[in-house]
Amino acid sequence: MNIKMMNQYPEIPSPCFVLEESLLIKNLELLKWVQYEADVKIICALKAFSFYHEFPLLRKYLAGATASSLHEARLIEEEMKEKAHVYTPAFIEHEFEEMTNYASHITFNSMNQYNKFISKAIEKNISCGIRINPEYSEIETAMYNPCVAGSRLGVRREDFGNFLPESIEGLHSHTMCENDSFVLERTLIHIENKFGDLLPQLKWLNLGGGHLITREGYDVNHLIVILRNFKAKYPNLQIILEPGSAIGWKTGFLKSSVLDIVHSAGIDVAILDISFAAHMPDTLEMPYKPMVRNAGMQAEKGKYNYRFGGMTCLAGDYYGDYSFDSPLQIGDEIIFEDMIHYTMVKTTTFNGVNLPSIGKIDGGNQFQMLKQFGYETFKARL
Ligand SMILES: Cc1ncc(COP(=O)(O)O)c(C=O)c1O
Repeated sequence: MNIKMMNQYPEIPSPCFVLEESLLIKNLELLKWVQYEADVKIICALKAFSFYHEFPLLRKYLAGATASSLHEARLIEEEMKEKAHVYTPAFIEHEFEEMTNYASHITFNSMNQYNKFISKAIEKNISCGIRINPEYSEIETAMYNPCVAGSRLGVRREDFGNFLPESIEGLHSHTMCENDSFVLERTLIHIENKFGDLLPQLKWLNLGGGHLITREGYDVNHLIVILRNFKAKYPNLQIILEPGSAIGWKTGFLKSSVLDIVHSAGIDVAILDISFAAHMPDTLEMPYKPMVRNAGMQAEKGKYNYRFGGMTCLAGDYYGDYSFDSPLQIGDEIIFEDMIHYTMVKTTTFNGVNLPSIGKIDGGNQFQMLKQFGYETFKARL
């Protein structure tokens, strides 16, 4: 945390997701600069960052947002006051009409979907595209790789045909995850190899998400150069990037606290008032070990070592080991770093656990509580 020590915010309840506005602004400023320098549009992927309390701020920096469902599209219209770019693997027939009220761009995932919905979209003057599968991705985790054999995401060239389907103005390709600009550079070569003949006929090319532009060490200048070069080759194209992680990257934390400490077969387990399974599911799904403030990332001789247990009955709801300079006490706070993107959007009330509150530290360094949950939220989902 960059601003104050945690104990200067005793008003932050536990557990609570806390966004730090100054860090978000730092990310947004960089993204805005890239938009300008590379002559591209950058839109926010809600699937990673739906922190709508900050949408008025996002709007000042970005070119809008992208939705994967009717509800995300509506949230964009309501809270960002923008029309959404929408893509989903399959649109629901009875939702499509309403969806067209919120959308400026719609991307179809298959030729079936195109045939089914194109006329309704065109009637509403929506710019339509098709998601392609360039059959090239450097994502190592199969769970996140849209180009695995048999992928349902996007149309491969051999299924696309030789011509652009009528009324299609754009193509959409999403094959990256937390990648750098060099991966994008190689990906563009594959897009050109497979779909290059169609590019001069299009108005836009959406290069999806997975561009971790705000990560330390990302070569932003290289990104700008490759995007400019691509644009010079295809001046007809509006290039769109729709990162999610890059918006919320390192913009806040999840505050939790120690409820109990148990000793099991030589391991000290601190049971927390959060759950990895319910509140940080990516940590188990990806999987990745979340960073904890002021803690070593593994057991160390001479230190106080703990496993953190979640508060559900799932045996695997834990992460360890972490080391501390002094012993933990019941009631101590434990801060999980970088918990804003893909966390709040994925939380569940598994085991009936309550959802963490949501708050922010604003530009004046004041904590503002935005949301609190309780029994009604749990019951309403069932
Ligand atoms: C189609 C599409 N666009 C954008 C994104 C956002 O990706 P990221 O958050 O990695 O930038 C995703 C993530 O899965 C996606 O599937």
